[in-house]
Amino acid sequence: MPGRHTTIRLIAFLGFALVGIWSLLSWSVQKPVSVSEFAVHASDHQPPLMNRCASCHQDVCEEFKDAPHTQTLIEASDPLVLSRFAGRSFQITKDGPLISFEEKNKQLWMTSDAYPESMRIEWMFGSGQHAMTPVSLFTNPDGSTELIEGSVSWFPPNVLGATPGADLTGSPGIRSLGGPIDHARTMECFGCHVTQLPHDGGRIRQQDIIKGVSCDRCHPGGEKHITEMEQGAELSIEKWSELSPLESINRCGECHRRADQLTASELSPERSVLVRFAPVGMAMSACFLKQDSVPEGPHSFRMDCLTCHDPHKPAEKSKEFYVEKCLQCHGPEKHQVSDCTSAITSRECLECHMPTVNVTDNLKLTDHWIRIRKSSDLPAVSELAPNPKP
Ligand code: HEC
Ligand code: HEC
Ligand code: HEC
Ligand code: HEC
Ligand code: HEC
Ligand code: HEC
Ligand code: HEC
Repeated sequence: MPGRHTTIRLIAFLGFALVGIWSLLSWSVQKPVSVSEFAVHASDHQPPLMNRCASCHQDVCEEFKDAPHTQTLIEASDPLVLSRFAGRSFQITKDGPLISFEEKNKQLWMTSDAYPESMRIEWMFGSGQHAMTPVSLFTNPDGSTELIEGSVSWFPPNVLGATPGADLTGSPGIRSLGGPIDHARTMECFGCHVTQLPHDGGRIRQQDIIKGVSCDRCHPGGEKHITEMEQGAELSIEKWSELSPLESINRCGECHRRADQLTASELSPERSVLVRFAPVGMAMSACFLKQDSVPEGPHSFRMDCLTCHDPHKPAEKSKEFYVEKCLQCHGPEKHQVSDCTSAITSRECLECHMPTVNVTDNLKLTDHWIRIRKSSDLPAVSELAPNPKP
């Protein structure tokens, strides 16, 4: 369908023209995303809770319990959090302040030897799959909630390190504990990490937050759907399979970021910060843009996030799982497109075309901009397993 392909490109291009200023230096510096009815801000009505969905979709709900999407925000008093932070210290620079965490009355506190008072930590952002960042909330003179993003975060396997992008290296006084995030940005941080964010005129009601990215964030209209199903009415809840590939990745991109939020010059493969934004990389990849050129074959050759991920589950760890996806489209068969033209053939496609990148010392993410890289960026031959194919 050449028509659809052109439309996808056109939309992507128009998108690049409609841009704002976006500082990409920190995960705390993020532009609000105000798109469609699926606004990034969590709903302020009470969505139906997962256990109501479970009465009919037990399998999905069962697997969803372990998904990182359910753990995007955790109370700092959670035993898992305390076990990772309490009693530990970290110095961002050799001569900089010493930052320590301790447990007092089942609460987590953060102290700096450069500041006399301790700071109570209320929440952890991040499941710990890649990082956990402590935040402390306070009410500003207008009565609105703001947060301080802790200068020190936890990373797997089990280390403390500087919070990526916070750039508080050696900051004196209270700044050694963390950086302030204004009210609007505070609402955005929570907006991408929760399902519901109740507040009274800007003051977040912490005890009523529905943590995690739950059903309603991706399947709005649950209440109506339940009523319809109970009454035996027709199915009207939106089906993701009916979205176009671009609509689909942009929906995930409400939180994972979209290419049309960036300027053309920001969309350069040289900018390693883009690695944080999977839909941005995907939208730039020939595999996505030219997916309609794959001939009809035994599989469905659609390219969007769901080609490789089930958002109800943690990301698959086995490389082989992903390589199978590449080989659905790439190879010498009639129903496939271009085979690898590299002199070194190996089934480790990801190492050369979709590698893991160190965003900071402790944060490793996957570059979703599938492309041919400079030979200087490719792994040494000795690092690759030989090709088992004949
Ligand atoms: C536009 C939506 C959005 C906003 C705003 C946002 N995040 Fe996130 N955050 C995400 C997404 C999506 C991920 C998972 C992918 C990734 O790593 O970027 C994530 C991941 C994280 C992680 C886990 C580490 C990781 O990279 O997986 C931490 C910690 C985090 N965010 C903290 C914050 C803090 C603190 C703020 C506000 C200062 C914030 N986020 C604002 C969407 C957002
Ligand atoms: C009374 C039973 C019932 C309840 C409760 C229920 N569903 Fe459904 N749902 C169904 C049936 C039946 C279908 C259509 C058959 C199918 O695809 O499983 C369906 C389909 C769906 C689909 C469309 C799947 C597709 O084809 O793309 C989604 C999404 C969905 N439900 C989400 C939810 C969510 C989220 C909740 C909780 C807010 C929920 N459902 C609660 C019965 C129910
Ligand atoms: C409401 C915001 C939001 C939406 C919408 C969203 N995500 Fe996420 N997603 C997050 C956050 C936040 C994380 C970080 C989880 C963590 O802390 O590890 C995440 C993590 C992930 C991960 C990493 C899981 C792992 O095991 O490390 C994948 C994969 C993912 N999302 C895919 C998707 C896909 C696909 C969609 C669209 C169908 C989507 N997400 C929609 C917020 C969102
Ligand atoms: C991060 C986004 C996201 C969240 C959160 C999410 N889903 Fe889904 N869900 C999807 C996407 C995308 C699909 C389509 C999957 C596909 O086509 O491969 C889907 C498919 C489904 C389906 C139909 C297919 C199937 O596997 O049976 C049901 C039912 C469903 N979701 C229910 C739920 C329920 C219930 C919850 C909460 C426990 C939930 N989803 C949470 C994104 C999400
Ligand atoms: C849905 C089908 C599909 C899947 C899955 C897919 N690709 Fe592609 N890929 C394409 C198409 C179509 C092109 C464009 C082919 C052309 O121009 O001849 C392409 C182009 C490429 C290119 C050339 C890029 C460039 O800029 O010239 C590379 C490298 C590539 N794919 C690697 C991969 C890898 C590695 C995977 C698995 C991680 C993968 N692809 C998965 C369809 C796919
Ligand atoms: C061609 C396969 C493929 C597609 C399509 C794909 N991903 Fe991934 N993704 C991966 C691989 C490989 C990993 C690394 C998994 C691992 O080893 O933990 C990954 C990991 C992730 C992670 C965890 C953090 C990281 O960077 O390692 C997030 C978040 C994520 N993907 C989001 C998305 C979103 C959103 C989309 C759609 C725009 C998407 N992915 C499409 C292959 C894919
Ligand atoms: C050792 C690194 C390496 C590995 C492993 C690798 N590639 Fe490549 N690939 C390259 C390089 C380099 C090129 C560009 C070669 C050239 O100049 O033609 C390339 C080119 C391609 C192209 C573009 C072909 C064209 O017609 O333009 C595709 C598609 C591709 N690779 C897919 C894959 C797939 C799928 C896998 C896994 C089965 C894979 N590659 C494994 C390095 C690699």
